[in-house]
Amino acid sequence: MSRKRVAVLISGRGSNMAALIEAAKDKSYPAEIVLVLSNKADAGGLVTARDNGIATEIVDHTQFGKDRVAFDAAMQSKLEAHRVDLVCLAGFMRLLSPGFVDLWQNRMLNIHPALLPAFKGLDTHARALTEGAKIHGATVHFVVPEMDAGPIIMQGAVAVRPDDTEAALAARVLAVEHRIYPSALKLVAEGRVRVVDGRCLIDGVAVPDAAALVPSA
Ligand code: GRF
Repeated sequence: MSRKRVAVLISGRGSNMAALIEAAKDKSYPAEIVLVLSNKADAGGLVTARDNGIATEIVDHTQFGKDRVAFDAAMQSKLEAHRVDLVCLAGFMRLLSPGFVDLWQNRMLNIHPALLPAFKGLDTHARALTEGAKIHGATVHFVVPEMDAGPIIMQGAVAVRPDDTEAALAARVLAVEHRIYPSALKLVAEGRVRVVDGRCLIDGVAVPDAAALVPSA
C-alpha cells in the first residue's frame, strides 16, 4: 500500500511536527511528510523541516487581511500542488474557514493540549491547574468547523501533581503529544479510523477508554 502524503501545518517551534517527521522516517510507517506549511516565515519548525529535507511553504496570513477564505484558498493550492492526502495541524494558530475544513473532512487532524472536551482554547495547562484538575493530557481529533471540537481519535493522560507548575505540566503533556500524534496519524493513514455519528471507530469498534489512554511516562 502506498504511503499517504501528509502536510503538517505549523505556526511555531514545531515539536509535534518533528515527532511526526521522526515517525515517518521508518519506511514501514504508512505516511510520509511531504510538506510543512507555515503562516509565519519565522516559525522555528521550518528550520527543522528543511534540515530534514522536507519541502516547506509559507502562506503569510497578514497578506490576506481579514479574508480567511482567500488565505485558506492559497493554502489549498499549495496542498494540491504537493498532492497531499492528509493534513496535520501542529500548533497552527489560525482559524480555518468552514469551506476549507469541509474539503478536508476526516482527512485533517489536530492536536490539542488538553483532554477534550475539557479546556478548549488557549492556556490549557494554567486553566487545568487553576480548576484543580487531577487528570490532564492531550487529544488528537479530526478537525471540524468548530474550534477544538471534532471526533476524538486518541487521547493521552497525565496525572496532575500537587506541586505542579504550568511549565512542568506542559512539559509532561508535550511528551504525551509526541507519542500520541504519530500513533493517531498511523491509524488514520492505515485507513483504520472511520467516523460514525461524530465518533471515531477504530477497526470498526469504539475504542474503550482504558485502551485510548496512554499512561504518562
Ligand atoms: C502543542 O502544545 C499543541 O498541542 C498545540 O500547540 C502546541 C504546539 O507545539 N496545538 P509545537 O509547535 O508542536 O512544539
